[in-house]
Amino acid sequence: MKPPRPTLFDFHGVPMTHIFTDDWENIKHFQARPDDILIATYPKAGTTWVSYILDLLYFSQTRPDRQTSMPIYERVPFLENKKPNHPSGTDLANSLDTSPRLIKTHLPVQLIPKSFWEQKCRVVYVARNAKDNAVSYFHFNRMDSVQPEPGDWNSFLQNYMEGQMVFGSWFDHVTGWWERKQSHPKLHYMLFEDMVEDTGREIDKLCSFLGLTSTAAEKEQIRRQSQFDNMKKDDMANYSSAIVMDFKISPFMRKGKVGDWKNHFTVAQNEQFDEEYHKKMNNTTLHFRTELGPAIHPRLPRPLLLPRPCPAAAPGPPSGLPLANMLGRAETERDEVVSPDTPPTHHTSISSPDVTYGH
Ligand code: PPS
Repeated sequence: MKPPRPTLFDFHGVPMTHIFTDDWENIKHFQARPDDILIATYPKAGTTWVSYILDLLYFSQTRPDRQTSMPIYERVPFLENKKPNHPSGTDLANSLDTSPRLIKTHLPVQLIPKSFWEQKCRVVYVARNAKDNAVSYFHFNRMDSVQPEPGDWNSFLQNYMEGQMVFGSWFDHVTGWWERKQSHPKLHYMLFEDMVEDTGREIDKLCSFLGLTSTAAEKEQIRRQSQFDNMKKDDMANYSSAIVMDFKISPFMRKGKVGDWKNHFTVAQNEQFDEEYHKKMNNTTLHFRTELGPAIHPRLPRPLLLPRPCPAAAPGPPSGLPLANMLGRAETERDEVVSPDTPPTHHTSISSPDVTYGH
């Protein structure tokens, strides 16, 4: 018989499971070193991708054995992880023999052990648009037996909107870290969508943040190696050795796309989500793209790309079909150019990385 799934409880105001709180004394008192690099994300935002890139940037030349013999979750330990019969994240981090140490966390900013701030560690935060993040999290909870039961998609989405997820609300997480960036100059805030759009550009930005002088050829090799199809095939990156995951239900490296939410959200769910999103994200300067198109500066008077108006937008589809079916397209390819006078909605907000997130 399968062991029961963990359930959520309130932990310092954040919904958590025991897996990520059982080791709390060691996490709280974890001794960071000044050269540690913390990779912080809300779950399913691209943690593994950025961890993989950072590991290659630092160690592909000096420690190539690591990439072929150590799974990514050992090369980049997950700080708060304490699964039964596994070494804890703090133990793995303390036994790393690299400099710098790369350490992963999903903790919201207010729960980060204080030594990371005292030691002025560099932090790479990765955020992903709320809709694709929700879809990825749903499939992950289906396949990972130490995550809470996701229920069906609709009830999962309601819980997601209410922040009833392990590590809490997506809204609080991404905005909390965004605010911290304003006071902590050593925080590089990245977007999953920018990574998909131009991985090479984002690797360049990482290198300048970290002061790395990798050659163009090295960076190009890392860009190629870290593309979705290559990482999916790499047993040291695709979590195929993680025994708590059931790949028959869903792979860890699932799709790696921007816009897959349209294959899951119904029109009614999308409308409800947009309404909640506006309420919760009204006061932030943080903007996400939920689909990729040509990069457009938000303040320049150019045509805006908006999703094709949905034929059944008003009452919502009786069939409850995903939006992609309602739009008559399989994925997210086509968009309609509309007048720049049309006010953009949040889900078309366009990140102009150099202006909004530039360093
Ligand atoms: S976890 O469990 O929180 O650490 O998961 P995380 O690594 O943050 O997120 C997993 C999602 O990232 C996708 N991914 C990638 N997308 C594009 N390119 C590359 N190289 C890549 N590597 C990982 C992965 O497929 C998960 O997203 P979905 O949408 O589920 O496919």
